[in-house]
Amino acid sequence: MMRLFVAVTPPPEALDELSSATAAMRSARPELRWTRPDQWHLTLAFLGEVDDQALADLSVRLGRAAAGHPPMRLALHGAGRFGNRVLWTRVSGDVVALRGLAASVRAAARRARVAVEDRPYRPHITLARGREGTDLRPVVDALAGFAGHTWTAGELHLVRSRLGAGPERTSRYELLTSWMLPES
Ligand code: 2AM
Repeated sequence: MMRLFVAVTPPPEALDELSSATAAMRSARPELRWTRPDQWHLTLAFLGEVDDQALADLSVRLGRAAAGHPPMRLALHGAGRFGNRVLWTRVSGDVVALRGLAASVRAAARRARVAVEDRPYRPHITLARGREGTDLRPVVDALAGFAGHTWTAGELHLVRSRLGAGPERTSRYELLTSWMLPES
């Protein structure tokens, strides 16, 4: 079994901007569990534990899904939260296209008999996780003015997550397969 997810990875410049924009907050709120900039990604679908035998079919179907979507122009800006559990940054730009790609990826996974959640897709990049008693509202407010440059998402990534195998017992993410989104 492998723990997998499908994601788009912003280019280094977009991640650097976000890293700079969050640096002060990272120092001011060390009690939050901040995610590492080199692991930032925009998840389209979380696949959970997938049987090794399903991987070949899954890959073929994800490749077909990618082939049906052109590159997208996206930007990162501001912040939001899921309660006091998760602090994230927003995605703007071609979000309709991003949602379409996420829907295709989920459909591809289901055709490969991989169960995916039906929950509404909320595009975001997780920046930090709160602990019990955390108030994320001031952090969201402090990051509200962040507006990153627009970038092109031109690749779809199938990523393996190894829980606790990264630095400081974070998850380690390994890129398994990458597909280009074709220019139309
Ligand atoms: P998150 O950043 O909001 O936690 C790898 O864990 C990726 O899959 C993360 O981007 C994570 O989103 C996403 N994901 C979505 N649903 C998940 C779940 N039920 N468990 C773990 N990760 C999930």
